[in-house]
Amino acid sequence: MNAKQTMPATLSDSTRMPAMEPFNVERIRADFPILQLQVNGKPLVYLDNAASSQMPRQVIDRMVRYQTNEHANISRAVHYLSETATAEYESARRTLQRFINAPEEREVIFTSGTTDAINLVMHGYGRKFLKAGDEIILTTLEHHSNIVPWQMLAEETGAKIRVVPINDAGELLIDEYEKLFNARTRFVGVIHVSNALGSINPVKQMTAVAHAHGVPVLVDGAQAVPHMQVDVQDLDCDFYVFSGHKLCGPTGIGVLYGKATLLEKMQPFKGGGDMILSVTFEKTTYNAIPHKFEAGTPPIAAAIGLGAAIDYFSAIGMDAIATHELDLLNYATDQLNLVPGVRIIGTAKNKASVISFTIDGVHPHDVGTLLNQEGVALRTGHHCAQPVMQRFNVPATSRASFAFYNNMAEVDALIAGIRAVQKVFA
Ligand SMILES: Cc1ncc(COP(=O)(O)O)c(C=O)c1O
Repeated sequence: MNAKQTMPATLSDSTRMPAMEPFNVERIRADFPILQLQVNGKPLVYLDNAASSQMPRQVIDRMVRYQTNEHANISRAVHYLSETATAEYESARRTLQRFINAPEEREVIFTSGTTDAINLVMHGYGRKFLKAGDEIILTTLEHHSNIVPWQMLAEETGAKIRVVPINDAGELLIDEYEKLFNARTRFVGVIHVSNALGSINPVKQMTAVAHAHGVPVLVDGAQAVPHMQVDVQDLDCDFYVFSGHKLCGPTGIGVLYGKATLLEKMQPFKGGGDMILSVTFEKTTYNAIPHKFEAGTPPIAAAIGLGAAIDYFSAIGMDAIATHELDLLNYATDQLNLVPGVRIIGTAKNKASVISFTIDGVHPHDVGTLLNQEGVALRTGHHCAQPVMQRFNVPATSRASFAFYNNMAEVDALIAGIRAVQKVFA
C-alpha cells in the first residue's frame, strides 16, 4: 500500500521547545555564522531580510544531522531510515501547525514556497469553482505572486479582478474594499504585510467582511509570519501561505494552510506518486489531505530545517521579536527622517520592520551599489510589487528590511552609508 500514514508524535516533539530567556540581540547574533562575514572589508550589515532571512546554527546543524543520520525517502519503506525521515517530516508539520495554530495537522501542506502555495489554490480551488463573470478581489499592495496566478485564471475562465486601492500612507481603503463586493464576488486574496511598504493589513476584519458575503479569503503571510504571532483560527481566513526562507529556514519549502472542508473539495494541483490511494489506467483515487497536495518526493530536509527554524523563533518568542523589531523600525524611521532628501514611501500607522525610501537625485540601483561597498545589503528595485511603485509614481525604491537579529548599530551603519551616498552625488 502506497498511502501515506500520519506518524505518531516522536519524542523530540515534546522536547524541542527550550525555555525562554530574556531577549538579548547580541546573544542571538552569535547564533548566525553569516553575520560574522566581512563584505568589501566591512562588517556585513544584512538588511535584506524581506527577500530572505539568514539561518541560525541550530537550523544548519539540524539539516546536517538529517543528512548525516536520518536521510531516506519518506512514506515508502519499512526500514529504519525511511521511518525516521517520515516521522521527522511529519513532526515538522506538527511544529508548523502549532506555530500558526491550525486546528488540524492535515490542514498544513508543504509546498515549495508562497508562490507555489498560491498557484496550488488557484489551480485547486480557482479552476474548479470560478467561471466567466465571477470576480476576484485583490489589493494594490499584492506581491506579483498573488496577482499573476489570478490573472492567468481570469484569462482562462473569463473571471474579473477588482483591486482595493490604498491611501498615500500605503494603507488599504477598507470602505472601498467593502464596496467591491457584489453577487459575483467569489474570492479574496490579500497580503498580510506588504513586502514593499511594510503596511500591516487588517486581514481579520477583511476576512469577516468577505465571509459575510460567503466569499473565501487567501492571506499571503510571507512577510507577516517572521514578525508577529499569526493565529489562523483567530483570523478565520480560509487559506494562509508563507515561505520558509523568510523565516530563517531553507529555500524550497513553504506552507499552505487551508481549512480542511475547502481542501477536501479542491482538485489536486500536481499528479504523481504519493498523492494517490490507487491507480489503474481507468481511474485514480486520490489520497487524503494533506498528501493529496504533496505529489512526488517532497523537500524532506527543507521541511525538517523549517521545523527547526520555527523551534528557534518559538524559543525566542514572537512577542519579544515583535517588540525588538518595533524598536528597530521606530529608530530607523526617526533617523531616516533626519536625513534631508530622503523620503520614506509607506507611512502606515501599523507597520512591520520594512522601510522603503528614495533619495533625491540618486537612482535606487546606485544606492544599493554604493551601500554594498560599505558592507550594507539592502534591496533596490520594484520588490515584485510594480502596482505599488505605480501608485507612488516611482520606478523603484531602496528597501531596508529588519529581522530580530539586527541591532541599532546596523541602523546607524545604514544612515552613515546613505550620507556617504549623498556625498558622492552632491
Ligand atoms: C509578500 C510576499 N508574497 C510572496 C512572496 C513570494 O515568495 P516566494 O518567492 O518564496 O515564493 C514574497 C517574496 O518576496 C513576498 O514578500
